[in-house]
Amino acid sequence: MSLEVEDLQAGYGEALVLRGVSLRAEPGELVAIIGPNGAGKSTLLKVVYGLLGARSGAVRYEGEEVTGTAPDALTRLGLNYVPQLGNVFPSLSIAENLLIGASSLPRASRRSAVDDLYERFPALAERRRQRAGTLSGGQRKLLAVARALATRPRTLLLDEPSAGLSPQAVQLVFDKLQEVNSDGIAIVMVEQNARRALALADRGYVLDMGRNAYEGEGRALLADPKVAELYLGARR
Ligand SMILES: Nc1ncnc2c1ncn2[C@@H]1O[C@H](COP(=O)(O)OP(=O)(O)OP(=O)(O)O)[C@@H](O)[C@H]1O
Ligand SMILES: [Mg+2]
Repeated sequence: MSLEVEDLQAGYGEALVLRGVSLRAEPGELVAIIGPNGAGKSTLLKVVYGLLGARSGAVRYEGEEVTGTAPDALTRLGLNYVPQLGNVFPSLSIAENLLIGASSLPRASRRSAVDDLYERFPALAERRRQRAGTLSGGQRKLLAVARALATRPRTLLLDEPSAGLSPQAVQLVFDKLQEVNSDGIAIVMVEQNARRALALADRGYVLDMGRNAYEGEGRALLADPKVAELYLGARR
């Protein structure tokens, strides 16, 4: 088991948002989390990555209880997170962004970590001296993903990687995430683009009102008429 969330409760102030959510991701899996606006999907990722405290329940990573562990410590354990609005510094170059991403690695291995990323993301390699702010939406999202990969994680949490992108850029990002996943990196992603995400997912979870509503193999959820009716909208 790579990541395991058990009966998590969390919220903001008085408001309870997660009312007992459980999920797991095995090593190398691609896991999709879908559900209506306000279901608690982003909140779930924030609690897993230690950005928000848990009221009860547990988060375990590779057999170790990590509930409430700080983000930078989780990053060192191999778990990293890409927020919805990315983690890119627009005024810095692509190379600088990636080196900052790699700064949690020992100094001697940073350069080779960045070189590995240029192989995986040739479009970023070509533009390495360019300011990140000049990139297209899709390339900028890929830079955010690449920055998170610079720490050499085994598991990547992604909040809405395709949000706000053109259809072409969505394709680019999904293709790249599949490549990253086939390198053996487990991906746990929240997505509005639910059909697309479930089609790729080894395992999918539907969250609704802070609770698990449905779970199963991605394609099985896609084929479930109840899930389609309640959560996937009209077939296009
Ligand atoms: N910082 C915050 N302070 C107070 N309430 C918050 C905060 N962030 C989120 N919430 C509330 O928590 C609930 C769940 O929000 P969350 O962002 O986790 O949902 P979501 O499933 O990611 O929704 P979306 O699909 O719109 O991104 C919502 O009712 C939201 O208003
Ligand atoms: Mg969200």
